Amino acid sequence: MQIHPTIAGFRAALKGAGRVAFVPTMGNLHEGHIALMRQARAHGDSVVSSLFVNRLQFGPKEDFGTYPRTFEADCEKMAAVGVAHLFAPDEREMYPAPQAYFVQPEPVQADILEGEFRPGFFRGVATVVMKLFAIVQPQVAVFGKKDYQQLMIIRNMAREFALPIEIVAGETVRAADGLALSSRNGYLSEAERAEAPRLYRALDGVRRALEAGERDLARLEQGAMAELRASGWIPQYVAVRKQLDLQLPAAHDSRLVVLGAALLGSTRLIDNLEV
Ligand code: PAF
Repeated sequence: MQIHPTIAGFRAALKGAGRVAFVPTMGNLHEGHIALMRQARAHGDSVVSSLFVNRLQFGPKEDFGTYPRTFEADCEKMAAVGVAHLFAPDEREMYPAPQAYFVQPEPVQADILEGEFRPGFFRGVATVVMKLFAIVQPQVAVFGKKDYQQLMIIRNMAREFALPIEIVAGETVRAADGLALSSRNGYLSEAERAEAPRLYRALDGVRRALEAGERDLARLEQGAMAELRASGWIPQYVAVRKQLDLQLPAAHDSRLVVLGAALLGSTRLIDNLEV
């Protein structure tokens, strides 16, 4: 695997790479990332990844400073799964001057759910992904369903800006007890790790109720939040939304997704399940 810290070097190396399938990351790779890279192999001649912890998508009180940085181990994992080129810029390469132009998704998409609790998050994500797309110029890009709202926003961004990039969705990878794999799981203490699958179970309860025909969404959402609260969590939202645009479903809508975010101690976990 070739590692490229500069845009110029990366672009030169990519000539002749054929159809490029791209998996952007912030590093600290787990099986979820590896599955996206494996999936990317089926979509292109060359798998390209990026590793950049993007300051723009972190709020002032969030974990930008402490976000796990595990460059050597990440490179080994990427090489083993067949990544041909890794774009790994530092902050000065990516943002040589403070970024003055941004991609700002509409509030109806960016200020709901995750955006309500992480103001500016999707502006930071959309801006860096647009910039990475401009640098990498992939034909295909793979994003995980674990970050469901991010996937929707990137898909909409690619469509609205007529980017010639196919956005492919990767399934969430889970531990045996149901916990969705996430870089932030590493923040959990042993006791918290044992408790963490409750978020999955609470969302799964909502999913099963919906599949059984229950349609009182508010009751289901509040029930799941109460279940989490009773076990010491601070739930931020549990919401049943339309898969397509994450807006409130009408009675006849069938393609739904249950999304949730909650704090377990000081760790914020998110998860979702399609119905
Ligand atoms: O999902 C992530 O890891 C990040 O949000 C992304 C897409 C790499 C942008 O920084």
